[in-house]
Amino acid sequence: MKLNIIPVKWSDEGVLMLDQRLLPTEEKWLTLRTYNDVAAGIKDMVVRGAPAIGVSAAYGIALGAKQFVGTNADDLAEEIDYISDVIGATRPTAVNLFWAIDRMKRTFEKAKGEGKSVSEIKQILIDDAKAIHDEDIESQRLIAQFGGELIENDSTVLTHCNAGALATGGVWGTALGVIRGAVDQGKKVSVIADETRPYLQGARLTAWELNEDDIPVTLITDNMSGHIMKKGGVQAVVVGSDRIAANGDVANKIGTYMVAVLAKRHGIPFYVAAPLSTVDMNCPTGDEIPIEERDTREITHVKDVQLAPEGIGVSNYAFDVTPNDLVTAIITEKGVARAPYIESLRKQFEQ
Ligand code: MRU
Repeated sequence: MKLNIIPVKWSDEGVLMLDQRLLPTEEKWLTLRTYNDVAAGIKDMVVRGAPAIGVSAAYGIALGAKQFVGTNADDLAEEIDYISDVIGATRPTAVNLFWAIDRMKRTFEKAKGEGKSVSEIKQILIDDAKAIHDEDIESQRLIAQFGGELIENDSTVLTHCNAGALATGGVWGTALGVIRGAVDQGKKVSVIADETRPYLQGARLTAWELNEDDIPVTLITDNMSGHIMKKGGVQAVVVGSDRIAANGDVANKIGTYMVAVLAKRHGIPFYVAAPLSTVDMNCPTGDEIPIEERDTREITHVKDVQLAPEGIGVSNYAFDVTPNDLVTAIITEKGVARAPYIESLRKQFEQ
């Protein structure tokens, strides 16, 4: 394993993002020079995956603050509120976005309350965005360690979407972190990647990054997993999450619910790996999680090729919610939480 994929970086010129829309055929880095560019980068899926969106949002706020012209901290406060609104309007489901915005706002308020100058506050915000990024990578390392222990030697793990280094601050990933953790612990593991229609994060991104790290991966279409599970070809399912409700209901990429039902039917453990920044204790159940709906062209077309007749109805829900009773365990940087999640997750926050 190379363990060297980092999808977003801070630089003096702006926020650098590996353009995930072009993978796996092109590895191109974009320099996003304003907070508006960063917001557009999140909205347009240059960067995607809940923790990576959170890290990018923090960098976007730091960048916007850095470019603020003025010396009055009250004026900077207004600017940061405005920037936060712009970045917060990009994608609704991944709570890491709002978690990162809240944390940056609190960092700002604290520095302002301590009477720091505007130029000092700018540096404090840059430093905190970098800290959010570093902490995210460290969380994934711990998730890899805890989760790796749950994976048996000589097993095949099925995953859905991309919850890898590309979807986080980098290096390990959440679901793919668990797989990398198992490999790091000396286990022989191979992966089945659902292609993940319609945006194909599994085919384009999961397959690419596992291949980069020399972890054997087999790509399947989303409708094949039941057949393979029935034949005994899957020993565990591991997925990431965009938001986990206080009761352990899990929002993740559309199709995850279907996989969880199949896993239950075949007695296969269904693990969710996510940092605590993905757990929304203010959201009592999955019913309150906002589900993003995206452009229907993602369904009707592949690039410029039209697949369906014009004028028909099309739905494009980007996420679904898996009820907590289908979830075997939730792996975070604090350890392995099991049902009842309302208690085990709360305990993890208190640790
Ligand atoms: O629409 P995307 O590509 O941002 O969706 C990503 C997912 O659903 C991931 O599984 C989730 O964000 C967890 S990433 C560690």
